[in-house]
Amino acid sequence: MSEFRITGKAKLAGVIGHPVTHSLSPVLHNYWLARKEIDGAYVPLSVAPDVFVTAVKGLQASGFRGANVTIPHKEAAFAIADEVDPMARIAGSVNTLVFREDGTIHGSSTDGFGYIANLEADGIDVTALANRGPALLLGAGGAARSIATSLLEKGFQVIFSNRTAERADGLANELDAAWRRHFPKGDAPRLSTVAWDKWEEQLSELALVVNTTSLGMQGGPAPDWTPDLSRASSHLVVSDIVYVPQETLFLKAAKERGLTTSGGLGMLLHQARPGFKAWFGADTEVDEATAAYIRAALNKR
Ligand code: ATR
Repeated sequence: MSEFRITGKAKLAGVIGHPVTHSLSPVLHNYWLARKEIDGAYVPLSVAPDVFVTAVKGLQASGFRGANVTIPHKEAAFAIADEVDPMARIAGSVNTLVFREDGTIHGSSTDGFGYIANLEADGIDVTALANRGPALLLGAGGAARSIATSLLEKGFQVIFSNRTAERADGLANELDAAWRRHFPKGDAPRLSTVAWDKWEEQLSELALVVNTTSLGMQGGPAPDWTPDLSRASSHLVVSDIVYVPQETLFLKAAKERGLTTSGGLGMLLHQARPGFKAWFGADTEVDEATAAYIRAALNKR
């Protein structure tokens, strides 16, 4: 490693959140920066909602290249961007801001990208999967919103199931309207919902099921959550965005049935790649060394 990694010319980025202490992004980006010997730094930025705009303008004025944006600022980030990627526009959420040299701000949503990239890294042919059957998303929060948009882009029929049914209906209607607005001449998105106590009965028809809720998460509302997968067809792919524990009971149950699975840590790593490339100018690898480094950081918590 070179002796003076952070100089007066360092490229700067960070993550804006409130709170931001839980974010693994500083660990991940600084790991990649050190490994690639890039003169740069990525810092946590705790910013209260009422000063979000002031903070973003301040970062821009201070020469930052951009920032990730996390809870509760994803809608505010959408609003502050001068230009927003189509999928972020449909999802109504932005997690990556790039400050351009002409003073404008570009916004994108990389969670859906990270989710799909992780499936592909796990050897899953996503296009072929979309032709095999619908994707069922458990949950209707911000993660479901981004993942559903990317799955629609890949040609999936998307079904939502959520404990609070109105939230699933609302999200399906909202995405449907946003998609039609953006692609007025294209095919209508295929979106529907199923009751929370009925989704297990639909498993035989599905190609993909994704847990986007906090169920199964250590310290969450129900760490021991284990759905009934007995109706799953042998080609069902089961994925979970929870990454603590790395193998949730949901994934464990799927593996025990011989199903293909995909865990949540990879999504976290892959979603960081577009921002890193834009701010620091280098491609990143999501390899075993990266995953091991992040696992070690998680274990220290
Ligand atoms: P995020 O933005 O990370 O997706 P969120 O908006 O808080 O987070 O959404 C959390 C999801 O987990 C929601 O779909 C929530 O269901 P509700 O809309 O009914 O609240 C779901 N969730 C949380 N705890 C749950 C529980 N005990 N049982 C079922 N679903 C739960």
